[in-house]
Amino acid sequence: MEKPKNIFAIVGPKGGVGKSTISANLAIALSELGKRVIAVDLDLGTSNLHAIFGIRESRHTLDDFVLNRVKNLSDIVLDTKINNLGIICGGDVPGIANMAYQKKLKLIRHLSNLDCDLVLLDLAPGASYNVVDFLIIAQRGLLVTTPEVPSLLNVYSFIKATVFRRLTFYFKHKKCFELLELLEKAKDFDNHPHLKTMEGLFREARKIDIETANSAKKILSTLKPFVVVNRVQTENDANAGEVIQNLLQQYLSIDGGVTMTIHEDNAVKNAIVRMTPAMIDAPQSIFSRDINQIAAKIVTSQ
Ligand SMILES: Nc1ncnc2c1ncn2[C@@H]1O[C@H](COP(=O)(O)OP(=O)(O)OP(=O)(O)O)[C@@H](O)[C@H]1O
Ligand SMILES: [Mg+2]
Repeated sequence: MEKPKNIFAIVGPKGGVGKSTISANLAIALSELGKRVIAVDLDLGTSNLHAIFGIRESRHTLDDFVLNRVKNLSDIVLDTKINNLGIICGGDVPGIANMAYQKKLKLIRHLSNLDCDLVLLDLAPGASYNVVDFLIIAQRGLLVTTPEVPSLLNVYSFIKATVFRRLTFYFKHKKCFELLELLEKAKDFDNHPHLKTMEGLFREARKIDIETANSAKKILSTLKPFVVVNRVQTENDANAGEVIQNLLQQYLSIDGGVTMTIHEDNAVKNAIVRMTPAMIDAPQSIFSRDINQIAAKIVTSQ
């Protein structure tokens, strides 16, 4: 399937690292740059994006679309007080978090047809199929982490899970069952140490089917995410991005990734108390400056 052109998935392997805070404020920064933006709460079941915008009760949520109460996704876009910025609130229908793949495709089709320049998806934490599938189908991913070592290791396993899911789709599509078997072996790398790195895996894959292996490698290069290290306090913290990029390069052969940082800032907490996003409540804060830098990078990368 051709990738939709304007969808950014905001993901994070760990809970509470700042995905929703970044989604809301980045959406504002992008709209201030003149882009028409729609922020979508896809953290289904535990949605809170609307609260960051200070919206207490949502007239419409994704439930209305998933349960076919409305025909078009555009019917449930709520206006915000901010120019150029709309929001779709999350739903809480039981089971919605494990949406069937076909339903996801339908949702993505409607998302890419929304009348705007950019769609930001605020997703649930972790590497569930639901999250990973939206990341794979979206145009780009913004991977949020905090600088602590366990978080960084989570980032690595998250990207690995995404890469394996993408390869599984591709090998299935190509009906290449031997390569699918190889992937299964690579998951159990304790017993197959030569398959521990992507380089090792692709060396074996080429022996099985050189053409499919080479085209799969090309597809992987499209998965390269922006990495955002959030809540940085020290200079050492800021180096966390480099650690991630090295891991990605060494084990997954993903290079040239972009890392950005956002500082720990009390302005975020103060803004929550006032039920106003920090970008509006404290536009001169360090946090808002960092968010503006990320927005500028996204716009120039388009
Ligand atoms: N740069 C920052 N400085 C200070 N506080 C922050 C910063 N970023 C996020 N926070 C705080 O961290 C907490 C978690 O943020 P948020 O809800 O955005 O995380 P999340 O990744 O969306 O969580 P979940 O996984 O539960 O969806 C919030 O209280 C938020 O205010
Ligand atoms: Mg969240």
